[in-house]
Amino acid sequence: MSISLNENLVKKKRRFLKADTQQKPLDTVLKSSKSSCVLELKDVTKSFGGLVAVDSASLAFSKGKITGLIGPNGAGKTTLFNLITGFLKPDVGTIHFNGYTINGLPPWQIAQFGIGRLFQDVRVFDKLTALENVLLARKEQPGENPLVSLFRRKSALNVEKKNMDEARKWIKFVELEEKEASLGENLSYGQQKLLAIARLLAGGFEALLLDEPTAGINPQMVKSVLNVIRRLAQAGKTVVVIEHNMNVIMEISDWVYFMDEGKVVTFGLPREILGDPEVRKAYLGI
Ligand SMILES: Nc1ncnc2c1ncn2[C@@H]1O[C@H](COP(=O)(O)OP(=O)(O)O)[C@@H](O)[C@H]1O
Ligand SMILES: [Mg+2]
Repeated sequence: MSISLNENLVKKKRRFLKADTQQKPLDTVLKSSKSSCVLELKDVTKSFGGLVAVDSASLAFSKGKITGLIGPNGAGKTTLFNLITGFLKPDVGTIHFNGYTINGLPPWQIAQFGIGRLFQDVRVFDKLTALENVLLARKEQPGENPLVSLFRRKSALNVEKKNMDEARKWIKFVELEEKEASLGENLSYGQQKLLAIARLLAGGFEALLLDEPTAGINPQMVKSVLNVIRRLAQAGKTVVVIEHNMNVIMEISDWVYFMDEGKVVTFGLPREILGDPEVRKAYLGI
């Protein structure tokens, strides 16, 4: 059974739920996960004209853990990813990654710090093979300069070999090795998502922000994607997942943030958040 947010109930019960859950000891839970926390937002606010899309939000994401980010449409989840990755700048508040302040930096610099993002509409290069798609993500490329290839042929070849080995390693990690010679356009949508994850990994990112990684793919492929996400956390990545499917959240998250109207309404273990009778009643309609 697929459980999804019930928007009508959300609207009806919104006020009531807020009053009820704001009492939750967010700070206490946050403190307990603080030691290994690498990505942290403090009192971040972002407005578009009169609309406060993210409202004094404080969140922490831990290394080696999967944190789910849930909430109805318009809650501010994607805006939060845009703020972390530098596509938007916070009006107020700070964002720290591995002890560095990253808010205000341009996206390319934030990417260099090691924060990568999987977009909701996965775009792979149709006319390139799976392997070539991943190779493109490697930061160090020997280039086409004839002088470089003349004088530094050996080192260029070494870099090429290393890039190839790395690309193959990550294609294998997402279990697409049998597809490495297939063109992007010949992969299923789920396989394209896996390929996009392999590209993030080949790019050397430490924190991975995944916007609805299982949306629109078949149940068998959902399993593969979830397995890969689990293994990312086991490999020590900091994983943040925006997800509408509550079964998925329950299955893979170590921690869950529930956002609504730009605010973090509640935070805790998935069974606490999704098992909370008021959350279930008001937001899940069950
Ligand atoms: N670039 C933008 N300009 C104006 N309003 C925006 C922009 N991006 C998001 N919003 C608004 O901010 C709110 C939060 O949106 P979003 O972060 O996309 O929510 P979610 O991802 O949780 O569905 C929504 O009301 C949305 O319409
Ligand atoms: Mg969104």
